[in-house]
Amino acid sequence: MEESKKVLYSAVQPTNNLTIGNYIGAIQNWVELQSGYNCFFSIADMHAITVRQIPAELRQRTLNLVALYIACGIDPEKCVLYIQSNVSAHAELCWALNTFTYVGEMQRMTQFKDKSARHADNINMGLMDYPVLMAADILLYQTDVVPVGLDQRQHLEIARDIAIRFNNAYTPTFKVPEGLYLKVGAKICDLLEPAKKMSKSAENPNGSVFLSDDRDTVIRKFKRAVTDSGSEILYDPENKPGVSNLLSIYSVFSGKSMDEAQRDFAGKGYGDFKLAVGEVVADRLKPIQERQAKILADKEYLNNILKSGAERASYSANKTLSKVYKKIGFYQL
Ligand code: TYM
Repeated sequence: MEESKKVLYSAVQPTNNLTIGNYIGAIQNWVELQSGYNCFFSIADMHAITVRQIPAELRQRTLNLVALYIACGIDPEKCVLYIQSNVSAHAELCWALNTFTYVGEMQRMTQFKDKSARHADNINMGLMDYPVLMAADILLYQTDVVPVGLDQRQHLEIARDIAIRFNNAYTPTFKVPEGLYLKVGAKICDLLEPAKKMSKSAENPNGSVFLSDDRDTVIRKFKRAVTDSGSEILYDPENKPGVSNLLSIYSVFSGKSMDEAQRDFAGKGYGDFKLAVGEVVADRLKPIQERQAKILADKEYLNNILKSGAERASYSANKTLSKVYKKIGFYQL
């Protein structure tokens, strides 16, 4: 850890297959930020079990996600890469923070309301407590910045509120973290319903492009993407949500600015445009998939990274946890 650098924390849940929304809003952004910060990236498996999981699948998806982080360019030498459940301090701090969080606040969380509606047969306490665990994740590492997509903004705000509340009740204990949101790509939308965010768990898988999709599937999904009335290819999220979403995806995957992206399609039709977006995405995904498969084949390499990651994360996390325990009056040996 370099003393002079600020701390960055983020995580992805190992649920379903990741989409290009997760890639753009999270992982690809982390790759760009990783050299400027002391980074902690976790696999949020404890968050994942708030919705029922098949154990063997959860285990495999967890490992797939570690390999994916590395395949996308996260450097495990520079960053601390670990699995949330391997660091017990997360559950422990979550418990303490629960006593600084109100039931009403949790019931008002948009994601809690959405997930409760979708999983009406399993509205468990974990689902409601999810944002407190996320606050514990972030606050344990004295985090300065948290790069996330816009869908996580409310959770980040509550993490800040909890930190401030605790600091005010005792003495400053937690850094109050800032959210970091991309200008382009903080909310990638569903290809068939551009008013909705692209989601790992969408009902219609044709609206989401998964990082595991092969070239033909990617291109087929983009060809079917919903566009807007009129024929101009312009970035105007309010009036042209479908086209603007495709332009955002193109801009990120091609590395071009939004102006350049729009210029590439001046005078072109929607058909050519959608094909070009599909191609640029497919071209980028293939080498990532190949690297991921290679990394996954070397389980010893992955286990070594995860072991060292969990040790390094525990070391930092336990420092904060022990401060918290002292302040709240737990008798320490
Ligand atoms: P998760 O697994 O749902 O999503 C992982 C990251 O991807 C972003 N994201 C998107 N960005 C742009 N467009 C989209 N369509 C899109 N869909 C998802 C999310 O905003 C997120 O950044 N609770 C978190 C995981 C988590 C976490 C944390 C994050 C657990 N602890 C601590 C930050 C800090 C989640 O479920 O993300």
